[in-house]
Amino acid sequence: MGLQPYVMALITIVLIRVVSKSVQTIAKTPEGELRLRMVDARKLNPQTIMPPYFVVDGMNRVAPPFRGKPILTAEQIEDVVAFLATLRD
Ligand code: HEM
Repeated sequence: MGLQPYVMALITIVLIRVVSKSVQTIAKTPEGELRLRMVDARKLNPQTIMPPYFVVDGMNRVAPPFRGKPILTAEQIEDVVAFLATLRD
């Protein structure tokens, strides 16, 4: 019980670090690569666990209601790319 606040503080510090590191990486990634990674990260790393947000081919064990449907539309991908571009200085 006495340890819990310290554990929570430690977890919070680690999460803040991970998020800020991710934002720094995204800010350094060229727009075309961000778009490709979201459309189909397997093009850059065939072993990736990052889900393809647009391509629907070559998937395994997709739940029936989601089969053949992209996670995002082309327009939504562009919206995310545009938002991520605002994180650059
Ligand atoms: C819209 C959401 C996302 C964006 C914009 C995004 C963006 C990126 C970027 C830019 C990289 C390259 C990092 C580098 O160059 O060091 C990356 C790598 C990676 N992402 Fe994502 N990501 C997203 C969602 C996800 C999700 C949901 C997962 C996991 C479930 C994930 C897992 C990974 C992994 C494991 C890598 C390391 C490289 C690899 O194994 O392919 N990402 N992502």
